[in-house]
Amino acid sequence: MERLVINGKRPLSGEIKIHGAKNAALPILCACILCDEKVILHNCPKLSDIDNTIEILRYLGCKVSRDEDTVEISNSDCLKDNIPRDLMNKMRSSIIFLGPLIAKLGKANLCLPGGCELGPRPIDIHLKSFEKLNIDVFEHRGSIDCKTDKIKGTSINLPFPSVGATENIMLATVLGNTKTLIHNAAREPEIIELQNFLNKCGADISGAGENCIIINAVKKLHGCEHSILPDRIEASTYMSFAAATGSSLTIKNICNEHIEPVVFAFREAGCDMNFKENELTICAPKRLKRIMHIKTLVYPGFPTDSGMPIIAMSCIAEGTTIFEETIFQNRYNATAELNKMGANIKIYDRIAVIEGVKSFYGADVEATDLRGGAALVCAGLAAQGTTNITQLQHIDRGYENIEHNLSLLGADIKREKN
Ligand code: UD1
Repeated sequence: MERLVINGKRPLSGEIKIHGAKNAALPILCACILCDEKVILHNCPKLSDIDNTIEILRYLGCKVSRDEDTVEISNSDCLKDNIPRDLMNKMRSSIIFLGPLIAKLGKANLCLPGGCELGPRPIDIHLKSFEKLNIDVFEHRGSIDCKTDKIKGTSINLPFPSVGATENIMLATVLGNTKTLIHNAAREPEIIELQNFLNKCGADISGAGENCIIINAVKKLHGCEHSILPDRIEASTYMSFAAATGSSLTIKNICNEHIEPVVFAFREAGCDMNFKENELTICAPKRLKRIMHIKTLVYPGFPTDSGMPIIAMSCIAEGTTIFEETIFQNRYNATAELNKMGANIKIYDRIAVIEGVKSFYGADVEATDLRGGAALVCAGLAAQGTTNITQLQHIDRGYENIEHNLSLLGADIKREKN
């Protein structure tokens, strides 16, 4: 078993270059099965979720090669129409293969996906939307069978602006000869990125980033060369690391606009932030101030994925921070581990009340999920003494080379095998 060993209370300094966004790369990789020619993706992060997606693409019949952060995908003439349970179970985003498989083959058979343990993560919005598109959906014993003789474009009103459902509908309807409208669509930057990628391949999609996305289906998609946008969540996580350790850090390769929804929280905590083009220097005070109230919301609101590392840094702020999670039920799994390290967090349903303490103390803790794992790293960096974090497979889903990057910034952190 691997563990991260962190000797805390070392200030960070220097520069960190943010990688490509996992949540943008994943749907784009799924989209590649729609393209008739080779796709070349640059800035593709080296993460286990990406490796698993590549494994699914290879299982389906695609040729995929990787050289550092460049991934090349050549589609197959005879794609498989199913994904086995062991591949599906590794991550929830594998459900995004459903839309493109149906678009390409008129049928697909997938098992219900795995992913972070964040409470019930239903896919009813995906499936109900598919039914509106003239796709027959059969669910039985944890697997989903979809079939259609022809996808018929229509106007879909999402009951909630689900990121995954928006992506799946875009991918299911991009080919053909109909028109689809998605009302109350998700507006996350990763949706705009998917639209940009598809349009580069010859699609006719508009409206991403706004309430209504219009998909005019096209006969075919060709290939393209595309560079994945920077990961706003990795950026905000490193901002939390800087804040928790009272450090000054320059965070490069960011999209300033995408960082905007988290900026108020760091400013309220007393951090100084200096933006230049595509980079940010964050300068944290010796002791952070409390943040009055943070509430997670869909974009452009405060992102749920940035929450846990910010909760970790608020644990050692002066005063009480109130955090309200509105997207995922079990986002707070890691708070018990933070409390083991000396934090004082109380959970009341979706609200976390964080009473600031003077310091974290090193402890043996387990990553419970991806962002919760990042919160433990944050606490470990700020803690008095040594922290051992296990269950690193969660952290490796979303943070490339985390111990290497942090070591370069001055942290005392290493990965050990037991
Ligand atoms: C994506 C991100 C994830 C992020 C989330 C919200 C990827 C790979 N993952 O996840 O990191 O935290 O957006 O920004 O991009 N819901 C339903 N029925 C559905 C679909 C969703 O009830 O059919 C609910 C979910 O249970 C959840 C909420 O809607 O409570 C948000 O889900 P959604 O926006 O779909 O998130 P994901 O696409 O799973």
